[in-house]
Parts: sequence; C-alpha cells; structure tokens
Amino acid sequence: MSTSHLDALEVQWLETYNQRNARSLEANKTAQQLIAKGQRTRFNSGMPYPIYVASGSGSRFTDLDGNTVLDCNAGWNASFIGRAHPAVTAAVHTAMSSIGAPGGAMHPSPIRDEFAQLLCARIPGAERIVFAPSGSEANTYALRLARAFTGNQIIIRVAGGFHGQHDALLGEQSSKTGLSPTAHDNIVTVPYNDLSAVRDVLQSRHGSVAAVIAEPMMTIPGAIHQRDGYIQGLRDETRKHGVLLILDEVITGCRFAVGGATEYYGLSAAPDLIVMGKMLGGGLPVAVVAGRADIVEQPISASNTHAQNPVALAAAVATMKATTPAVFADAAAKGEKLRQRLREIAERLGFSLAVTGDGPCAGVHFSSEEIVDYASAERADHRLWRLMCLGLANQGLGLTSRTFGPTAAWTDEDLNTAIGGFEVTLSAMAKAHQLDHERATA
Ligand SMILES: Cc1ncc(COP(=O)(O)O)c(C=O)c1O
Repeated sequence: MSTSHLDALEVQWLETYNQRNARSLEANKTAQQLIAKGQRTRFNSGMPYPIYVASGSGSRFTDLDGNTVLDCNAGWNASFIGRAHPAVTAAVHTAMSSIGAPGGAMHPSPIRDEFAQLLCARIPGAERIVFAPSGSEANTYALRLARAFTGNQIIIRVAGGFHGQHDALLGEQSSKTGLSPTAHDNIVTVPYNDLSAVRDVLQSRHGSVAAVIAEPMMTIPGAIHQRDGYIQGLRDETRKHGVLLILDEVITGCRFAVGGATEYYGLSAAPDLIVMGKMLGGGLPVAVVAGRADIVEQPISASNTHAQNPVALAAAVATMKATTPAVFADAAAKGEKLRQRLREIAERLGFSLAVTGDGPCAGVHFSSEEIVDYASAERADHRLWRLMCLGLANQGLGLTSRTFGPTAAWTDEDLNTAIGGFEVTLSAMAKAHQLDHERATA
C-alpha cells in the first residue's frame, strides 16, 4: 500500500526541518552524550529535537542556523514581556553589579521587600507571601500550608492539570517512574469544568479535605478555558465546606491581568492561596505562594537558598512595573484575534478544529467535539497536532507546548506572521487530509 498523503507531508516537513536546523541537529548530538533525555526532549510537539537559540530580543530569536523564529510559547511561559527587555536587562545588570547574586534570606536587600509590596498590591487576596525558586516548590509549600492550616490530608486536583514536580501532584502526563507507590494516597482527581464532581468529593470526604488545587485555565492539555463560571463555583463550594482553594497561577498569573485570574474572571472572593512563578520573574526564577496571612504564617519548612535571589527579584520588580493594565489588555485582544482567525481558517479549510483559550492564550485541538477537560482533549488527533507544530516550525513559528499565543512583546506584525504561518501549514495539511479521504472512499 502506498504511503498516505499525510505521511508523505510529514516526511517532507522533517526533511525541511533537518535542512533548516543542521547546526541545532549537530548541537543536539553533543547534548545527547551529556544531558538526560527527559530534559532534552520533553516535547509534546512534532519536532524531533529542539532548536538552539543564538540570540534574541522581544518576541523573536535567531537560531544557530540563522533562522528567525517567532516565539509562540513565551519562552516556555517564562517571559511575558519578551527576551532581553531593556528595563529587565538594566535591572539585572544593576542588581548584579551592586549587590551580586547570593542567596537572599539571611541578608535581604530592599529589592525583596519592594517586590513583596508590589505583588501584594497587585494580587487580590495576597496578604503575605512565601518565596520559592520554582512553581514546583511553591506548590509544595502551598500543599504544606493547606494541610497545616486545616489539619486535613486530602487534596482534590483536576485531571490533566500540571502543578510541577511535587510527587503527590504528578499527574496524567508525567512519568511516575521512581515515585513511591503511596505518593498519591491522599489525592483525589476530578475532571475540569465539572463542578458537581468536586461537590460530590467535598460531601463524601467531608472533614478530610484540605484543599482543591486548580489552574484557572488548564495549560498542559492546551489552553482549556473554564465554562459556566467554574472557578467562581470552586470558590463558592470550597468556602461552603471550609476547604481551601489553591489557585495555581504559575502560567496565568502574570499573563491575564495585573491581578491575575481573580481580576480577569471577576471572582467575588480571592482564592485562599495563589501560586505564581514562571513569568513572575521576567525570565528569571522567582515563584511565590501568596494568600491569607493566617494560612501563609503556618510554620511549615520553607527554607530555600535560591528563593529570594536579589538579581531575580530585581528582574521581577522591573517586569511588574512594565506590565500595566494596558499591556495585558493589548495581549488579550491579540489572543482573541488569533483564536478568531484560527476558527475562520479551519472553517474555510473544512478542518475539524476546536480552538480554546482565554486572555492571550490559545489552544487548538483536532477534534469535532467541544474541548472542556483532559478527557475530551485526549480524544483529539495528536498526530495532526504534532504535524502542525512541525509545519509551523518550518514557517519560523516556535510552538512547543499546547498553550500558545501572543505576549506583550508581540507586535501587530508578529500576530499577522503567526496567522499567516498557521494558514500555510493548515492548508497543506487539509489538502493532504482531503486526498487521503478521497483515496479511502474511492
Ligand atoms: C500550572 C503550572 N504549575 C506549576 C508548574 C511548575 O513550575 P516550575 O516548572 O517552575 O517548577 C508549571 C510548569 O509548567 C505549571 O504549568
């Protein structure tokens, strides 16, 4: 049997990818001898190996082979204001040359407290904070705080949600190799956007639940946005049952609005704990748990050498000052336009494509059903998704995770470049798909 048109397209795009990225391919061969596979190739996209960055600024970078790439994943969600932002670069230089980069806790510098003041003024419900160097550690502390405060053990999490490397929180899409078999003993998993499932657990396990942890918009399965006031519903139900709500805003916190998802979705009351990281540091490692003072003051273990690094905090302060309400509104408007144009392109091509997302974030799912949770996202055609990422890479669009979209660094031209790249890629895929369909039904 001859190969399908989609198979042939994949072979052709792989060849193009290898030709475009010959130097990155060579660099990857060296890296294979030095760096564990899990950290070299953690991709759910179609690229066979990552593209190395030679230089970059704003929304774009130049790779080792001299190609210009539009960053569609915000530097793996670590920088909303783009690469080498002048204010962040200057702040880092100043802090590094005047303070240096020691661990910060024992001899703090004023930049730490300026950061705390700014953050607490921006985020509703942030009365006090605990620092961490990563979202994973911040979520670890959030769980400890919730269990210490309530005296309960059970944590309700959402299927398909990712909260970092805490053993108990590693979910559907992470390797369980090396975990203790008891790691998930006190974890109960519910589907996203299903309030009745949470209600059922809160009732059946009444008196045992410490917290519900959820992202305002699920990111790893592809920008699955809340329906029917789900997050407000979580706030109401947790309150009713005396259980804490931990909102994991590691991705959304510095992307949706100055006040994060609480402001963006207009929640009537703030979450008890808000976890932030990634974009918070403007590309440098800064994370926090913020929330009610009486919860955050629980005497958990949270000492951490790199958690209050003054250089990283200088970058975070500069980032907060640069991200005004107008900056968030502009990125969200671009996100809305991107989602709209993707829907139009798919409709014109006759492709079954579900476009999801909120704020500046978008997700696409090759599926004819509405994508509301991890299960529906899993039923989409992942092979087509990977092929699309490969095609986009050859168009100079860097898209390596399922949630993508504009950042504050994107210009109108960037938005048009992205839409154009999707159009070219999806058109080629639709053509091959149609030819395969015709052959199958002939
Ligand atoms: C929602 C969410 N929470 C937590 C984390 C973990 O953050 P970090 O990689 O900084 O440990 C991630 C990372 O992707 C995330 O997406």
